Amino acid sequence: MSAPRNTAGHALVHGWKWLDGFASFFGAVVGGFYKIPGTRPIKTLLHGTWPLGHPLHPMITDLTIGGYTATVAVDVLYLITREPGVGHAADVLIVASFLTSLLSIVSGLTDWNSTYSEERRTGMLHGLLMVVASLGFIASIWLRVAGAEQRDLAIAVGIVAWLVLIVSSYFGGEMVFGYGTEVNRQAWATPPTKWERLDLSESSLDDRKPVVVKAKSGYPVFVVKLDGTVYAMGNTCTHAGGPLNEGKWVGGDRCEIECPWHASRFCVKDAKVHGGPATFSEVRFEVRAAEGRIEVRAR
Ligand code: FES
Repeated sequence: MSAPRNTAGHALVHGWKWLDGFASFFGAVVGGFYKIPGTRPIKTLLHGTWPLGHPLHPMITDLTIGGYTATVAVDVLYLITREPGVGHAADVLIVASFLTSLLSIVSGLTDWNSTYSEERRTGMLHGLLMVVASLGFIASIWLRVAGAEQRDLAIAVGIVAWLVLIVSSYFGGEMVFGYGTEVNRQAWATPPTKWERLDLSESSLDDRKPVVVKAKSGYPVFVVKLDGTVYAMGNTCTHAGGPLNEGKWVGGDRCEIECPWHASRFCVKDAKVHGGPATFSEVRFEVRAAEGRIEVRAR
């Protein structure tokens, strides 16, 4: 959701409206897929919400980028030594890297589809460059299979694809470090860690009608009464900062609140994230009533 004015990526991308056409196309494909009933667990898995509790895409891309980089290094070694065994090692590396890239691509597209505006445009550039690099690696694999006499050409194509991959990776890093995509929105929060009395009376709470109350530090606390018990957690969605008190109730026992921005789900009883794109749980609070007022303390 952010649009920083202080990054190299912004200086390059903010005027490149032509990327928006590609973004519309890929957005329709990815969004359309996740509208198919039963695909929500796939989405939650590819974001990394479950079982990792951490974004999946940056973990897998380490394998992909590292694998392709190792391929180039071993290919260069082959050019120096002309040892067939070294060439075969490079072949194994490039195929393994390509296989990991398939997971990198689908997890990246899944994360990207919950972005907007310039952040989305930068992500599209990152993705398109990855498509070009992947086509280069496929061509390199195909040339290796075609015969030993094509190996030098295969290596040259692989090196060009790797250079495109490195440029693409720069924009992938820009997404996280420049725009804050998928960064935990509770990372810099200052929830009260000692008992703090909120400006909220227990009697004013209605069942399943959440309210947001600011702590002394300004930290917004989500408070709700659920079947007679009061629960509290952070109100700022860990995915991109959506206001959870404006969400809707979902889930079999209606204890999950769904973020109004991109539909991440949090269980208000334990503050755990139950559905992506968020991958981090909310800050959980202990709750007690004193003199009719609600007091909270972060766990
Ligand atoms: S802000 Fe994206 S799901 Fe809440």
